[in-house]
Amino acid sequence: MKLLVTGGAGFIGSSFVRLALKDGHAVTVLDALTYCGNLANLDPVKSHAKYRFVKGDVRDGKLADELLANKEHGAPFDCLVHFAAESHVDRSILDASPFISTNIAGTQVLLDAARRHVAAGGKLRYLQVSTDEVYGSADDGKPFTESTPIKPNSPYAASKASADLLVRAYHHTYKLDTVITRCSNNYGPYQFPEKLIPLFTTNLFEGRKVPVYGDGMQVRDWIHCDDHSRGVLAVLAKGKSGEVYNLGGGNPMPNLEITKRLIKATGRDESSIEYVKDRPGHDRVYLIDHTKVTRELGWEPQVPFGEGLAATVQWYRDNEAWWRAIKSGEYLKYYEQQYVKR
Ligand code: NAD
Ligand code: DAU
Repeated sequence: MKLLVTGGAGFIGSSFVRLALKDGHAVTVLDALTYCGNLANLDPVKSHAKYRFVKGDVRDGKLADELLANKEHGAPFDCLVHFAAESHVDRSILDASPFISTNIAGTQVLLDAARRHVAAGGKLRYLQVSTDEVYGSADDGKPFTESTPIKPNSPYAASKASADLLVRAYHHTYKLDTVITRCSNNYGPYQFPEKLIPLFTTNLFEGRKVPVYGDGMQVRDWIHCDDHSRGVLAVLAKGKSGEVYNLGGGNPMPNLEITKRLIKATGRDESSIEYVKDRPGHDRVYLIDHTKVTRELGWEPQVPFGEGLAATVQWYRDNEAWWRAIKSGEYLKYYEQQYVKR
């Protein structure tokens, strides 16, 4: 497949790009390189013959039209895979504006570009990378299925749910070929150290405390980012048009349990834990049922959580320069100087 991938310089997008190229697909990345977009995440593929990078914003409709039409950028594409988003819940609580703008308006801009492209005789499958957070909190203990009502609780989740509804509407109204994936919490290499696992791992390496929100008993279902990427590839290739597919790791676990595992893996002790004020509106539990994608497309997560977590901690141990550059802000200079020609 020839793929146009937004957000490919982020955590999961870059996992997807590395895997897609390895599988023989051609990839053009469109990424604005916001605070969490990092070209160092794409270093392993930067010389690959089938890889291209374009710096740009998903809210730029003219650029999207140009990319979908221009052979120099890899067109004609078979699929547009939309990973780009503002992705951090705590940031959305501080200021929802960039979330509404990028996650909702950005999705609309891309859907319109895809619609124009198809109206002009092109072919394109549109895949929206969504999240289990659109379902809200599974307080009744019942895992989310694709027919669980959408009840987003944070501004981030509401922006992702709104984008999903737009995708649904464009499929219904314009017969656009769309698919949506909704995945649970990802972990793995290259994750921006503001999220639980890389923040705690790197804090522990530095001998600092780890801030556990509330009582630490909130449950998340953890999946390795490469399993998520393989799920996206499966849905792209075989998913039924107009459908939603849940992806999950089958590893629901309280945050405190993850914290204790990280403390053990880094050789620290529980005096590193600092209980802090809870996140406002904090979802208590995410549980995801992914039987549909397994039954229909044969996808299943492959990375056992214990192994994946140990390898992830090792990756942060081995790639100290990568996370130190982020924590100090140096990485911003890195990509501006090394790669981005304006
Ligand atoms: P991330 O924050 O690491 O990366 C986001 C990427 O999008 C960055 O490269 C950034 O530069 C780019 N971007 C942001 N705004 C942009 C814009 N306006 N134009 C172009 N590029 C822009 O995110 P992530 O954790 O890799 O998440 C990727 C996607 O997966 C998101 O859509 C997120 O909602 C979804 N998701 C994430 C998780 C998770 O656990 N992290 C789970 C399920 C779904
Ligand atoms: O469920 C999928 C979602 O997972 C994605 O859609 C989001 O993009 C992604 O950021 C993630 O959201 P979470 O809010 O679950 O991830 P985060 O790593 O921020 O937090 C995980 C849990 O850990 C959550 O219950 C909050 C808690 N936490 C987090 C941080 C950063 C802490 O206790 N302390 C912290 O410092």
